[in-house]
Amino acid sequence: MKAADLFDVSGHVAFVTGAASGLGLAMAEVMADNGAHVVMADINPDTLEHHAERLSDAGRSVEGVVLDVADLDALRAAIDNAAESRGRLDAAFANAGISAGPGYLTEAGRIDSVDPARWDEVVQVNLTSVFATVQAAARHMKRRKSGRIVVTSSIAGLKSEHLVGYAYAATKAGVVNLVRQAAMELAPHNVTVNAIAPGPFFTNIAGGRLNDPEAARAFAEMVPMGRIADTTELQGLALLLASPAGSFITGTAIPIDGGCTAG
Ligand SMILES: NC(=O)c1ccc[n+]([C@@H]2O[C@H](COP(=O)([O-])OP(=O)(O)OC[C@H]3O[C@@H](n4cnc5c(N)ncnc54)[C@H](O)[C@@H]3O)[C@@H](O)[C@H]2O)c1
Repeated sequence: MKAADLFDVSGHVAFVTGAASGLGLAMAEVMADNGAHVVMADINPDTLEHHAERLSDAGRSVEGVVLDVADLDALRAAIDNAAESRGRLDAAFANAGISAGPGYLTEAGRIDSVDPARWDEVVQVNLTSVFATVQAAARHMKRRKSGRIVVTSSIAGLKSEHLVGYAYAATKAGVVNLVRQAAMELAPHNVTVNAIAPGPFFTNIAGGRLNDPEAARAFAEMVPMGRIADTTELQGLALLLASPAGSFITGTAIPIDGGCTAG
């Protein structure tokens, strides 16, 4: 089979959370570039409108939906609407996520400093909303006996990581087993569920912390390849998991990390 056919998602409908920046934007773009209609969901109306318009002007089929994934009713309604308005939902990317602040090497990141309100907020966005996305998408996909769910975890969900906060580490590990659990139930329905576990990528997470040269150096030092990745470097894996090429991959958490988890 030709590579172009393996990765062709023409006519597919994809739903992406956190689609107005960073990794989610890269996922939305690669799906739209390869033929899918993409529903881009994000809490930030300005960046969402900017990128949705930019992609539409470039001839891509996209629409923006402003929502806070922590509002589970709004999230479910947006997924239902995406599936029902086009009669199908082929791929769902549960990608929106937030930082929990610094890791335990700083005073603010130590176990005694964890703020309960921030803990709850991170759990709601990084774990509970991911579950709600998987649940809502699966309902539509089971009906059509076809679907791809991709969750953005982190290398901090696969191993301890001193540069991230407790709630981040816990939620990113939580979604990995959520993915395995859902993958088992949904496998007979031909719905695949996988996690992507990125190492450091240049995005706007944590207020664009990686754009600060000192923080960037600290992150780059932990990467065997010695650098932070560009968001376009995630697009191949995202498209693989959501296209015909990935039809037999399920229940996995795939690191994309310049070697971080291997060492
Ligand atoms: N950048 C990295 O190095 C890295 C590494 C591992 C995992 N991740 C994960 O990748 C995912 C995307 O993060 P990113 O790095 O692209 O960050 P980013 O801040 O550039 O993008 C995140 C997007 O999600 C949106 N968002 C945040 N909270 C939301 C909410 N409550 N409802 C809806 N949208 C919301 C933001 O407005 C933003 O557009 C996250 O789950 C993050 O934990 C990032």
